[in-house]
Amino acid sequence: MMKRTSDFPASQDAAIATMRAARVLPVVTVDSATQGVAVARALQQGGLGTIEIALRTPASLDAIVAIKQEVPGVVVGAGTVRVPADIERARRVGVDFLVTPGTTTALAEALVESCIPATPAAATPTELLELSGRGFRIAKLFPVGALGGLQLVRLLQGPVPDMLLAPSGGIGEVDAAQYLAQPNVACVGGSWMVSRDWIARGRYDLIIEASRRASALAGGG
Ligand code: 3PG
Repeated sequence: MMKRTSDFPASQDAAIATMRAARVLPVVTVDSATQGVAVARALQQGGLGTIEIALRTPASLDAIVAIKQEVPGVVVGAGTVRVPADIERARRVGVDFLVTPGTTTALAEALVESCIPATPAAATPTELLELSGRGFRIAKLFPVGALGGLQLVRLLQGPVPDMLLAPSGGIGEVDAAQYLAQPNVACVGGSWMVSRDWIARGRYDLIIEASRRASALAGGG
């Protein structure tokens, strides 16, 4: 269980601590609460104890509730938070953290107001500076693979030194370690270890194996 915060700067400390501890953040999309629990167990077994459930399916919030009840020890956040109403939905199910795929002004303001540990996304230096100006100290860099990949992460270190990054989008087993070696990277996000095809076919064995490899390259295996 994550510590709840009552002020925004403290919630950013918590977001940074959560992402740094995770190192690899599985982005999970499920079609039922039962699937969510099974995936969370497989990830945990593979050494990945922090999970982002993407709010991309009708089952996502039920899955978060079920995981919190049935898989103790797992840190569960909501991803694909797109509008302020998503923050409220996520709060009601007791999420540990929030991640967005992009950050409108309204969403940024609502995240600050919520004091839930948040990692809002940016895709450009200007967007990173806007988030920094609002007091965010960690941002998801999305979709990093299409934006310039590792080179973009390296080039941001000079001009945007005080923003920690959580690159996501198009990262895989082959390049995750290179991202994690960058000093401005807190963690990498990705769905490579929780392929929707594996979930649909009940291949939790493959999720466990891929999670073990991901956990090892994150320094946890
Ligand atoms: C995300 O929201 O971060 C992405 O969906 C994860 O990207 P990937 O599916 O390309 O790994």
